[in-house]
Amino acid sequence: MSSLVEGLPARAERVIPGGVSSNVRLGAPRVFFQRGEGARLWDLDGREYVDYLLGQGPAFLGHAHPRVSAAVAEAARSGMVFGAQHPLEVEAAERFVAATGWPDTVRFGVSGTESVQAALRLARAATGRQRIVRFAGHYHGWLDNVLMDFANGGHGPASAGQPAGALADWLVVPFNDTEALTALFDRHGAEIAAVICEPMMCNAGAIPPRPGFLDLVRELTHRAGAVLVFDEVITGFRLALGGAARHFGVTPDLAVYGKALAGGWPVSAVAGRGDLMARFGTGEVNHSGTFNASVMAAAAIVATLDTLTSAPPYARIEDHGRRLMAGLAELGRRHGVPLRVQGLPVAFHVSFGPPRPVHDLAGLHALDLARYARFARTLAAHGVWVAGRGIWYVSAAHGEAELTDVLDRVDQALKHENDL
Ligand SMILES: Cc1ncc(COP(=O)(O)O)c(C=O)c1O
Repeated sequence: MSSLVEGLPARAERVIPGGVSSNVRLGAPRVFFQRGEGARLWDLDGREYVDYLLGQGPAFLGHAHPRVSAAVAEAARSGMVFGAQHPLEVEAAERFVAATGWPDTVRFGVSGTESVQAALRLARAATGRQRIVRFAGHYHGWLDNVLMDFANGGHGPASAGQPAGALADWLVVPFNDTEALTALFDRHGAEIAAVICEPMMCNAGAIPPRPGFLDLVRELTHRAGAVLVFDEVITGFRLALGGAARHFGVTPDLAVYGKALAGGWPVSAVAGRGDLMARFGTGEVNHSGTFNASVMAAAAIVATLDTLTSAPPYARIEDHGRRLMAGLAELGRRHGVPLRVQGLPVAFHVSFGPPRPVHDLAGLHALDLARYARFARTLAAHGVWVAGRGIWYVSAAHGEAELTDVLDRVDQALKHENDL
């Protein structure tokens, strides 16, 4: 261990509970990174990794994208937060609305978690109803009223300390289950304020909607007078410039964005139909935040959206992702292990199990996810940085060199796995 790293885990443990600043990182290998550039990371020992975690998604343009970094540095020189408006904020909002293509207006925030709250509050205010429908396995942030444990088919609190009753207003159905959703609306339609969903389930597997499923969600919400909220925190700007709404051709009433929106800068957004969003503007519905649309955040959004619109990377990313998915499946076959790959080229899931696609959380849980979580540690030891839960994110910075390196390293890791 290098002198730089020596003692760092213990120092971290002393002053940061668990040594990590987000519980999502508790199970990951305790690596300290010194630097990220493009699609690669370097730890304190100077070991290099090909990165398919991308900070859980935000580094969609690659780490330290020069245009975004320069824009943020330049913006910071003119001040950071004014408690008032500034021109970049308007430019960011204009570009956001133009890029996504369907919302009328947008409010920026800092984290996906808080923008989800704004969307749910707005839906309840607009409908005068309380109940919200969601799908088992979808994640909508870590706050008391949304954090849910779906283990063993249940849907209870996922953390000690969540107040009793915090989850009482939820109605939960399996993703892609047309009958369950229709029956739910037959029974509770008049009580439902909103349906919130990850249009493609990315927090558990990488499970696209079955053909027609999102259309059904759209139709049922419309008929019941409920608000449809797409949680596009992962899919926004990743599946397409217009996110999952554009990719799948279904327009929600509201959507929440984060991660890929600002080249790694902490920014989120709630956007949607003007008549709903207007309730923020009249003050009827509260949405606040000291750091909302800070100068640097706005600069990061403008630089990111400039980059994504002037040279759209989507075809290149898809090509990379498609070849990577095929390459991983081929390596699995060659090594005689049931390595399975499912999802879209921009965000796919790798695990061990039968090759047939899964469509919901129960199907995902039938796979050998524990084996993959162990394999992800082996991958880290071979210079491939990925999430233990199996999702792989491709960025605009991944190129031919990364494809060659990652397949070579996965090959080595599978050899190691077979030798155990
Ligand atoms: C779909 C989805 N919604 C909401 C969130 C919460 O966003 P944040 O971690 O920025 O609070 C996440 C985070 O991973 C997410 O994937």
